[in-house]
Amino acid sequence: MLRDRVVVVGVSGGIAAYKACELVRRLRERGATVIAVMTPAACEFVTPLTFQALTGNPVITTLWGDQQQRFDLPVETLHKVGGKVAHVDVAEAADCLAIAPATADLMARIVHGEAPDALTTITMATTAPLVLAPAMDLQMWQSPATQANVRELRARGARIVGPASGFLASGLVGPGRLAEVSDIVDEIERAVVRRASLEGVRVLIGAGRTEEAIDPVRVLTNRSSGRMGFALAEAARDRGADVTVVAGPVDVPAPHGVTLTPVTTAEQMLRAMTGAAEHADVVLMAAAVADYRPAKTAKQKLKRTDGTLTLTLEPNADILAAIGAAKTPGQVVVGFALETTNGVANARGKLQRKNADLIVLNAPADSLGAETNKVTLVDATSAQALPVASKREVAESILDRVHGLRAKPAKRAKRAKPAKPAKPAKPARKGARK
Ligand code: CTP
Repeated sequence: MLRDRVVVVGVSGGIAAYKACELVRRLRERGATVIAVMTPAACEFVTPLTFQALTGNPVITTLWGDQQQRFDLPVETLHKVGGKVAHVDVAEAADCLAIAPATADLMARIVHGEAPDALTTITMATTAPLVLAPAMDLQMWQSPATQANVRELRARGARIVGPASGFLASGLVGPGRLAEVSDIVDEIERAVVRRASLEGVRVLIGAGRTEEAIDPVRVLTNRSSGRMGFALAEAARDRGADVTVVAGPVDVPAPHGVTLTPVTTAEQMLRAMTGAAEHADVVLMAAAVADYRPAKTAKQKLKRTDGTLTLTLEPNADILAAIGAAKTPGQVVVGFALETTNGVANARGKLQRKNADLIVLNAPADSLGAETNKVTLVDATSAQALPVASKREVAESILDRVHGLRAKPAKRAKRAKPAKPAKPAKPARKGARK
């Protein structure tokens, strides 16, 4: 799986630096081209010459003076970056950046975007998946700062392997040892496979909430933040997909590198989503769409009066059902369900009614507005409950399932009756951004 793949192995300054030699050897055994990048502190533990001999490539230890080094790279990669590779081109050439050991200090620098050396610079510059194998003393691992940094790195999509528990160089016993080298290699392989898993696939995502105007200042809406949809967009983008996001109002900034169509109302979202779905290989409908809109939007602000006020609501079209009814062969359609009771049964009902291939079931307490999510992936025959994880990690699990569904189309849910044709809607606001 690693043949003709470039794995950049970053080594930071901890006693476990010597174990990175074994990591390099195993990666080369599996066919990877390896480039080692060492921090100045790592060079105090192991010499660059060791890594040069093991990788068969020059070792990057500094930002200065390495611009003309010649690396032995796979032909395809050489075309991409040219034969002589400066440290910034290594970021471009990488199929995976694996840092082992990753010290507490190095992870803190990555989190804060500090780049004083070649390794942190390459980490900032690369779009390749990042695998981190932390190793440090027990107390450093358990410190609130390190734990917060690890959470943040996970939320940004980094894969953390270990640390393992056991006897530490300090004499303490507990978590802090570098993970087993074979576990790190396995994680690198998974990251490389995932990275290419949606190469060139057209992914359409519905994200955020919708707003239905009651009058010029008041709206009917919900508490969806857009985080889950945007996490899916980032994860799909990082797997090589061509991503379009149709987003209602959200609380978080949109990811870069995706095509964004901003909308406000359910009708606008319907128009934008159904139009784009015709050209999509995968549709992920994570938006929280208003099921109803006010029958009339008052032109002037409604004034308070004595007594009660009754709003008459009329139904919005079901966007997911419309997309499911028009599903093209091979297209994968994923919906979400927010349930407070009978979760799996209700989710399966939606799977069938909306002709989806997968429903991501979550409960409001676990999901709305939160950084993390706890979901169950429900298809026609199974319900897989996942542990609480960052929305990015949940997104990766959903995309793993999508990849599986595309690879061998599973027993799909029976085709539902086509949804009622949607009412004509106003066009979505212009201003799609890249
Ligand atoms: N959905 C949609 N259009 C709507 C309402 C919902 O596309 N008008 C999508 C959501 O984006 C989600 C799925 O349908 O992917 C399930 O949404 P949910 O609100 O849980 O389901 P409903 O069909 O509205 O059913 P109910 O309100 O009975 O739970």
